[in-house]
Amino acid sequence: MPQSPRSAVVVAAASTKPIWCVDYENWKAVREELGANAVAYLDASGFKPDAGNYVLVPDNKGGVAGCLLGLGKNGNSADPMLAGKLATVLPEGDWKFARAPHDVRLAAIAFALSTYRFARYRAGKGKQLRLVAPSNVDAKEVTRIAEGMALARDLVNTPSNDLGPVELEAAIRTLAKKHGAKAASIVGKDLLKKNFPLVYAVGQGSERAPRLVEFSWGKATHPKVTLVGKGVCFDTGGLDIKPSSSMLLMKKDMGGAAAALALAHMIMDAKLKVRLRVIIPAVENSISGIAFRPGDIYKSRNGITVEIGNTDAEGRLVLADALSLADEEKPELLVDFATLTGAARVALGPEIPPAFTNDDALWSSLEKHASAQADPLWRMPLWKPYMAMLDSRIADTNNVGSGHAGAIVAALFLSKFVERAKSWLHLDIFGWNPKERPGRPEGGEAHSVRALYALLSERYG
Ligand code: BES
Ligand code: MN
Ligand code: ZN
Repeated sequence: MPQSPRSAVVVAAASTKPIWCVDYENWKAVREELGANAVAYLDASGFKPDAGNYVLVPDNKGGVAGCLLGLGKNGNSADPMLAGKLATVLPEGDWKFARAPHDVRLAAIAFALSTYRFARYRAGKGKQLRLVAPSNVDAKEVTRIAEGMALARDLVNTPSNDLGPVELEAAIRTLAKKHGAKAASIVGKDLLKKNFPLVYAVGQGSERAPRLVEFSWGKATHPKVTLVGKGVCFDTGGLDIKPSSSMLLMKKDMGGAAAALALAHMIMDAKLKVRLRVIIPAVENSISGIAFRPGDIYKSRNGITVEIGNTDAEGRLVLADALSLADEEKPELLVDFATLTGAARVALGPEIPPAFTNDDALWSSLEKHASAQADPLWRMPLWKPYMAMLDSRIADTNNVGSGHAGAIVAALFLSKFVERAKSWLHLDIFGWNPKERPGRPEGGEAHSVRALYALLSERYG
C-alpha cells in the first residue's frame, strides 16, 4: 500500500561530492580550502554565506566539485534542519559533509526527510540523491526515522477514496506484520457488542464500516507504552457539515493515526524495551440518513453519557472509547495523537502542536527533546475550571463547549476517559505542512513523532 521510503543515507563512494557548510566565522578558512579558481567564481557570482544560500562549486573541467551551504552569522544558531534544503537543490549523486553543520545528526535527518516525494499518482522525477552517513551519525537510526515519517506522510497524502477505514486497517496490519506482531480489529456492529458505542456512532453514517484496530508488540514484562491515534479517514463534519474550504483538506484527519504508526515503526525497528500497544479507531465522518445527529446521546465505553452538541467534534468521540480501552490496563505511558481542533491552529499555527499532560516530569523531558530534535511542541494547560464548559443539562457531558478555549476543552473532554494510566499525553497535531520548508516538504506530516521517539529512546533504549 504505502510507498517505500527513499533511502538517503549510504556509505561513501569514490564519486561522492563534498558539501561545505559555511558561516561568516569559517568562511575565510573554507575559501582557502577551495582554491583560487573556485573562489574567483564564487566571488564573481556574489555568494555570501547567509543562512540558506547555496551555490555549486565548479571544478577545473567545467564539472561540479561540490556545494556550499550558507549558515549565516553564527552557524551554531542556524535552523538545524537547513541542510534539508540541499536535497531539493543538489544534482543527482552521492554527497557528504566536508564541513559539517553544528548538529550533523539532525542535518542528516533533515536531508533524508527532504528527499521524500509522494509519487503514488504521478511518476516522480526520480532524482537519486544520497547522503553519505557522517562517521559520528548512526545511519540506521536516520533511516528508521525517515522510514517512519515517510509511512505517515504517505498515509496522510493518500486521498480518502483510496484510504478509508478498510485501507487504514490494511496499513496497520502490514506494519504490525513487518515487525512480527499481529493486528486485530473489531468492525461494524461488533463495535456495539464489544462496547465501543462512540466509535460506532461516528462511523455509522458511512458505507465504509467503522472499526477499531489494534496490535501489541514486545515483551509482556516491559513497561507498557500505548499509542492511540485519531483515524478519521475523512471528516465532512457530519450533519453539522463543514463549509467547503474547511473540508478540502480533511483527508488528513487520520494524521493522528499516521503519527502513531510512524512512532510505532521507529520503536519496533529500534527494539526499544517496551511493551508497545497501538490502538486506532478508524472511521469516516459521513453524512447520510443513518448518520449520528446533533442532540443524540450515547453511553460511552466507560459509562459516561455524551450529548452530541456538534457532530463535527467527532475525533474526541472515537478517541474517548479508544482511550478507555487503553486505560483499562493501566499503561505506564499513554499518548494520543489527533488532528483534533481548529482552535489549536488558531492558538499556535500549523507548526507547533499543543501538548497536554499533567505529568510535569514527562513534559520537562519532552520539552527538551522537542527542541533538540527541532520538532517543536508547546504545553497548554488542562485547565480544570473550563471543565464546566462541557456541562450538559441531560447527559453527563456534552462533546463541545461554548467556543472558547477549543483546544483545551477538547483535551479536557478526553481527560474524562483517562483515569488509570500512570501518565497521559495528548498531542493536538496539524498533520500537514502548508508550505515547503527544509526537511518538511509540503503535504502530510507526522508532527511530534521525532520528539517523542527521542524521549522514548532515552528512557527505554
Ligand atoms: N478534524 C477537525 C479539526 C481540524 C480542523 C484539524 C482543521 C485541523 C484543521 C475536528 O474534527 C473538528 O472539526 N473540530 C471542530 C470542533 C468544534 C466543532 C468544537 C473544530 O475545531 O472546529
Ligand atoms: Mn470534525
Ligand atoms: Zn475531525
